[in-house]
Amino acid sequence: MIDLHCHILPGIDDGARDLADTLDMLEAARHDAIKVIVCTSHFSPDADSAYDEAFDEVQELARRDGIKVCSGMEYDSAAFGEVNFSRVRRLAGTDYILVDFRSNTSPEAVRLAVYKLNVHGLQPVAAHPERLFYDDLPRMVKLLDKLGVKLQINARSITGGYGRRTRKAAFWLLMHGACHLVANDAHRKDGFRMCEARHLLSLFFPDEYVRLVFDENPAALVAGQPLNSFRTAPTLRQRIGVWFFTRFGKCSKRHKKEA
Ligand SMILES: [Fe+2]
Repeated sequence: MIDLHCHILPGIDDGARDLADTLDMLEAARHDAIKVIVCTSHFSPDADSAYDEAFDEVQELARRDGIKVCSGMEYDSAAFGEVNFSRVRRLAGTDYILVDFRSNTSPEAVRLAVYKLNVHGLQPVAAHPERLFYDDLPRMVKLLDKLGVKLQINARSITGGYGRRTRKAAFWLLMHGACHLVANDAHRKDGFRMCEARHLLSLFFPDEYVRLVFDENPAALVAGQPLNSFRTAPTLRQRIGVWFFTRFGKCSKRHKKEA
């Protein structure tokens, strides 16, 4: 699988602290059937300066594990003032850019941020909306869809690593066909949950939806191609299954690192 969101570069952000962490994460990625990792460190001017050297180092290490790494970054929409958009780190060199709207989730702020990106020819992918728009999920999803923003859910949100409320929001997005991509957003070795999340989704959703969000859309993204949506309405049986699971299903262990 392709993991489009990962904080594996050492000493750049709040992800891997050093090379030992990076090596642990590479091993965990291999066990999680990951073949391609997009190294999406949090953007800051300092992180941006240190990025290339760390990336080259990790690229060499990953190759030994049979994993390909691609460049990218995760941009906080509230920090766009510090970003030079002419040399932004796009996801795998495509027109897609990973954006975290956490600092300002109001519709006006989201609309303005997307406008800024579009002016520069960038296609935003919203990181983990299930962790941000709890109170206003339907309205925000409608707005993001209208603005052409693609949505990336964290695998740990599906497994319950952030708690029941986030998992409920993740499944709401999935039920409404609003999820385009699933990725790990791992900060440490315990953050690799794609296989576990994939198994859980296969219990409730059609194979074609599972393949779309774990295989086809991630592959399309790194190739710079358009992403597809799954718009088929869930059956009554699927809805009941999700209802029970999100209320009573066991959550996986909470992770210490929740960034
Ligand atoms: Fe992240």
